[in-house]
Amino acid sequence: MGLIAELEGLTAALQQGLDQAVSLPEVEALRVAFMGRKGRLAGLMARLKEVDPEDRPAVGQAANAAKQRLAELLEERIARLKALAEGAEERFFDPSMPGRPPYRGSLHPVTLVMNELCSILEGIGYEVVSGPEAETDFHNFAALNFPKDHPARDMQDTLYLGEDLVMRTHTSPMQVRSMLAHKKPPLAVLAPGKVYRRDFDLTHTPMFHQVEGLLVGQNISLGDLRGTLAYLARELFGPETRLRFRPSFFPFTEPSAEVDLSCMFCGGSGRTDGGTCRVCKGGGWLEILGSGMVDPNVFKAVGFPEDCSGFAFGLGVERIAMLKYGIGDLRMFFENDARFLERF
Ligand code: DAH
Repeated sequence: MGLIAELEGLTAALQQGLDQAVSLPEVEALRVAFMGRKGRLAGLMARLKEVDPEDRPAVGQAANAAKQRLAELLEERIARLKALAEGAEERFFDPSMPGRPPYRGSLHPVTLVMNELCSILEGIGYEVVSGPEAETDFHNFAALNFPKDHPARDMQDTLYLGEDLVMRTHTSPMQVRSMLAHKKPPLAVLAPGKVYRRDFDLTHTPMFHQVEGLLVGQNISLGDLRGTLAYLARELFGPETRLRFRPSFFPFTEPSAEVDLSCMFCGGSGRTDGGTCRVCKGGGWLEILGSGMVDPNVFKAVGFPEDCSGFAFGLGVERIAMLKYGIGDLRMFFENDARFLERF
């Protein structure tokens, strides 16, 4: 390569070095390497005597130009580094750093479970509905066959807003509202939402979530209820899940049943490697929801024909979320700790 081309190559090489230099000592080291007494420029200049005498003026000119350009580049970088050191803002701005990802929220486990329940049952034709959280006595109690002064009202630890207005104690009033809105059967609705009770301890919070299901038509049987709940449970917890119906009482269903699922942590055996299953306490079953065949008195209250039949069920969302995600403490749902929420 000719000397002139090598001189021109020097500026590109220095520029490359300077692009990497982030401190003044690094720039100084480059200055020595390129322009010092034993530097690369000096090395090239030493070869001037090898050049033909008639070419020397041109090479000499190129050498001067290179020298000037190298000095300029060094000055520019020094000025830039000094400016960066002075401007605190700019000092921290490194355009080559990867960007900070924006903080993204996540859905609350209660929302996730409600969404999942809705999408499973929407898939088999249920319509998702919602209604008020402040309810009349009629919708929350009377139409659901809770007569005034009936002891079953005490089970609900009601928060009263007035003589005739309560914070709804369950999502069952949506049964009444849906039937009134549809005017006649058939219908299949699902009502997720908040409910309220005067109750607060380790396993109860004054506000929690339920999902209510109601299906009304003709010749609906307990078998239809069982089939629907089995489908729901297996979609939620896996195909191995077994169901158990236990007789119970709710004013708005007759007969009524509480439904248990085989424990998904020990497969229903009640035992894990560590001994007794901590989730089902060795029983092998987990109580999961209330259900039953709609009581004729409820149909009467909403003006539905005598010959219709249907089933209803109601389940606690927090309970399902705890089982599904292995959450041990109900209070975690309501403490709004972002670290908890980020797990989902
Ligand atoms: N509403 C009841 C409660 O909150 C749960 C329930 C039981 C809902 C039986 C139903 C049902 O639809 O059929 O305790």
